[in-house]
Amino acid sequence: MGTPPRPTPGVPSHRTGAGRREATTAWAGEHNADTANPVDATAEYGQLSHLLADVCRERELKHATFAGARLADAAQTAPWPLPACRGGPHPILAKGATVPMSASAHTATAEAIRLAETYSAHNYAPVPVVLAEADGCWVADVEGNRYLDLLASYSALNFGHRHPRLLAAAHAQLDRMTLTSRAFHTDLLGPMCRDLAALVGQEAVLPMNSGAEAVETAIKLVRRWGYHRKGVDPDRARILVCDNNFHGRTTTLVGFSSNDEARDGFGPFAPGFTSIPFGDADALRDALDEDVVAFLVEPIQGEGGVIVPPRGYLAQAQRLCRDAGALLVADEIQSGLGRTGATLACDHEAVTPDVLILGKALGGGIVPASAVLASHEIMNVLTPGSHGSTFGGNPLMCAIAREVVALLGDGRLQRRAAALSSRLLDGLRAIGGNVAAVRGRGLWAGVDLSPTAQPAKHVCQTLLAEGLLTKDTHETTLRLAPPLTIDEADLDWAVQRLAAVLG
Ligand SMILES: Cc1ncc(COP(=O)(O)O)c(C=O)c1O
Repeated sequence: MGTPPRPTPGVPSHRTGAGRREATTAWAGEHNADTANPVDATAEYGQLSHLLADVCRERELKHATFAGARLADAAQTAPWPLPACRGGPHPILAKGATVPMSASAHTATAEAIRLAETYSAHNYAPVPVVLAEADGCWVADVEGNRYLDLLASYSALNFGHRHPRLLAAAHAQLDRMTLTSRAFHTDLLGPMCRDLAALVGQEAVLPMNSGAEAVETAIKLVRRWGYHRKGVDPDRARILVCDNNFHGRTTTLVGFSSNDEARDGFGPFAPGFTSIPFGDADALRDALDEDVVAFLVEPIQGEGGVIVPPRGYLAQAQRLCRDAGALLVADEIQSGLGRTGATLACDHEAVTPDVLILGKALGGGIVPASAVLASHEIMNVLTPGSHGSTFGGNPLMCAIAREVVALLGDGRLQRRAAALSSRLLDGLRAIGGNVAAVRGRGLWAGVDLSPTAQPAKHVCQTLLAEGLLTKDTHETTLRLAPPLTIDEADLDWAVQRLAAVLG
């Protein structure tokens, strides 16, 4: 096999045209020959070798393209804006702290990935960068390279990394009490639930931990409501869900996913779910019958590619559910808490769902936190012993979630997301080139790549080399969800870098 060309420095990898696998393997071997063996591209690490080769290749690309962008130079040069570090210079983010490219730098990245690949389950295929520190909208890898975080942990970091008010709330609570289990009352559970319920116009809160747990909780809640209040015959309750949904990874939830990879090998699945097209009110009307206890829907499908339903869909869904005696359950785990330019995505249509599910940002980017909210009338079908979680509503979570609610209380961050929306979405739409379509709301965008573009996963790696953290979904779409705290200059810079790669 001949040696495929190395990527041309300064040319994004999606334009080189070289077969990626051969190119990276060959380069890894080449790299091995003249360094202290930071990358073993032979059989030893198998798939890992390709990953490591990718890392080195992207590093070289970045170095070549962005030599002037290292922090050592950043104070003098425009293209790599310095973050406004809260609380003084960050140890890694500080001027001059960048570690130059070297074999040892490769080793730090390679070794971290090697350990993860060797000792952790392979249920993720992360972008090959090893992150070590973060502040606000910026993160740094183990080599000191800085990246603007355009994913914000799928909206779990709506307030950016290590927001000072959230850190302060967490630190204060760490010094008081962290966990009691729900066997006892704590002083913060009531206040947190009161404040959260008031923020989103609900009456009662059931705190859990992960998003999937909260969705499972909502399923139990609406089924019990169906049997105890609606009078559905035993074991007949049905829940309507949407094609292309994402609600989490438990066996019940993947059981009604339309993603074959998420389901493969995990059956048998729980019955009682019917999937209908998203955004189609007629399909909902046709599917509602006396056994349907609820319609579970993401107001905007995040994992599905930031799919925004037609205007009026949620309001219509609410009317249809009311008429049929079914509950509208909004999964706002990703869309909620400011992301779309309102506290909830449902707010855009003045819809208050019967059951609301929150997660991600509720934990302030510090702890896992989720919650199911509803009226007392609905929530009271749950009785002691019918549901619970050892960690749900723990004091540390309550302290942080309460501060999250306080941060959103004056609406400033929501207004900021709304105000910056056109800057992001119009900027992306103006790129043209390999951008086929842009969808979104607030500071949330799904960017469909044209058929001639590299797979979205590869584009994410190229963007990494340009200093941007992004994530693909469905092979052809990029998801962008920067922290709501991002400033205008950083957002503009991100759109410029995206344009340079995709235009
Ligand atoms: C809409 C929605 N629901 C549920 C989940 C699952 O949340 P978790 O990963 O915390 O279980 C996600 C995660 O991305 C989500 O986007």
